[in-house]
Amino acid sequence: MKNTILGLAFCAALPVFAQQKATVTVHPDQGKQVINKEIYGQFAEHLGTCIYGGLWVGENSSIPNVKGYRTDVLEALKKLKVPVLRWPGGCFADEYHWMDGIGPRENRPKMVNNNWGGTVEDNSFGTHEFLNLCEILGCEPYISGNVGSGTVEELAKWVEYMTAEQGSPMAKLRKENGRERPWKVKYIGVGNESWGCGGNMYPEYYSDLYRRYQTYCRNYGGNRLYKIASGASDYDYRWTEVLMQRAAQQMDGLSLHYYTVTGWSGSKGSATDFSTDDYYWTLGKCREIEDVIKRHIAIMDKYDPQKRVGLIVDEWGTWWDEEPGTISGHLFQQNTLRDALVASLTLDIFHKYTDRIKMTNIAQIANVLQSMILTKKDKMVLTPTYHVFEMYNVHQDATFLPLDLQCERKIVRGDRIVPMVSATASRNKEGVVHISLSNVDLTESQDITLSLGDMSIKSVTGRILTSESIDDYNSFEHSDVVVPKDFKGAKIQKNGLQVKLPAKSIVVLEVK
Ligand code: AHR
Repeated sequence: MKNTILGLAFCAALPVFAQQKATVTVHPDQGKQVINKEIYGQFAEHLGTCIYGGLWVGENSSIPNVKGYRTDVLEALKKLKVPVLRWPGGCFADEYHWMDGIGPRENRPKMVNNNWGGTVEDNSFGTHEFLNLCEILGCEPYISGNVGSGTVEELAKWVEYMTAEQGSPMAKLRKENGRERPWKVKYIGVGNESWGCGGNMYPEYYSDLYRRYQTYCRNYGGNRLYKIASGASDYDYRWTEVLMQRAAQQMDGLSLHYYTVTGWSGSKGSATDFSTDDYYWTLGKCREIEDVIKRHIAIMDKYDPQKRVGLIVDEWGTWWDEEPGTISGHLFQQNTLRDALVASLTLDIFHKYTDRIKMTNIAQIANVLQSMILTKKDKMVLTPTYHVFEMYNVHQDATFLPLDLQCERKIVRGDRIVPMVSATASRNKEGVVHISLSNVDLTESQDITLSLGDMSIKSVTGRILTSESIDDYNSFEHSDVVVPKDFKGAKIQKNGLQVKLPAKSIVVLEVK
């Protein structure tokens, strides 16, 4: 890695000699909002080897499996406490016809996955395989419906097939295909990226289509749908404005996609071979999601001051060049400690807006973009991003505790200002406080004075994720290069803690 840091800035309140010190003031008495566990949601698309090879190998595979699902992957995902899983796309969703994916597998028609490398899709993983997987994982399914190339009737019947009790024609068909009871399906997306791969629509036109399609997504029996409109990408504030103006009454959620990516054409940069300058740029771009979220929320607040409609960030994460030697269009990328820091910083930001952000889904769960899991035949590795999601799952459904943070900052390429420390805190139902701290500085450790108000502290334990080099990753040959370890760098002080946070590290503390 070349060393090219662009500049330094210091918080006004800190004297210059304190440049490697930081203060974090947690307010345990000000907790109001619960961090929706769905903020830790995942996304599985028919793309590359996410589904086939990553989650599903089929019952006849020599790779150990439970009813066709990889045993190693199931075990890893259970530890992650996945709250919700989005499927079948992404762009794939708007070309997917669900009836091709039910019934005996040998009779299911094939199709070409036009979005993702022209791979032939055999539909062996369909509605039953997906919804049964959600039941095994104990997570909510999030179905992404086809608006781009599907019909209102097709989507209406899919909802009926999945959720109607006995008696309806679709419930009868479901029963013939081996499933008597309906599944519980809460989240339904009406199209995906309808401004792009989902139909290249204008927001005015899509708003009308959204209103029409959602009308026929019915609540059967006790099932209650949470309907999500296809939302904006990044800085497209007009899309949000038009959708909120024209269709807010008909929606429960509005989506947003934001990738930490250099640009949509040309090289996006290597996942593993990057400079110091690239690294800090990535963090700047990652943190910019906060401004983007704030602006979309401000628009939503105008039309929905009660915050009834959720902002659903159903695609986010890093997007690098595909790994050399992998199939073009399959978006297979490695995952380093840099990606882990993008995950921790982004989750810290999502927690702050939990009154509006009801769900997010990192892209994607296996073998695609910023994955939790990478597989190669019978081998599996857990990525540094997986470890962040596992360490952070203590925040799921806990009460968000506001905090103030003062630390050193760097000005990075693109004139973005990146604070060197990021933090978030929550209190769970048992009264245990968890504090997550990230030090993004590549060379300097942080001496953090952490105050917890009046809370009387009896014990502190912690885990740390770090490695020798920021470009370290877990490979199929060396799968435990970047893994969490016990952390002993936090000491109890009067009114709080003193924490020594090593360079490029993520720590989650448990305070009782
Ligand atoms: O996550 C990969 C792709 O990115 C999705 O299919 C699409 O919605 C987005 O452009």
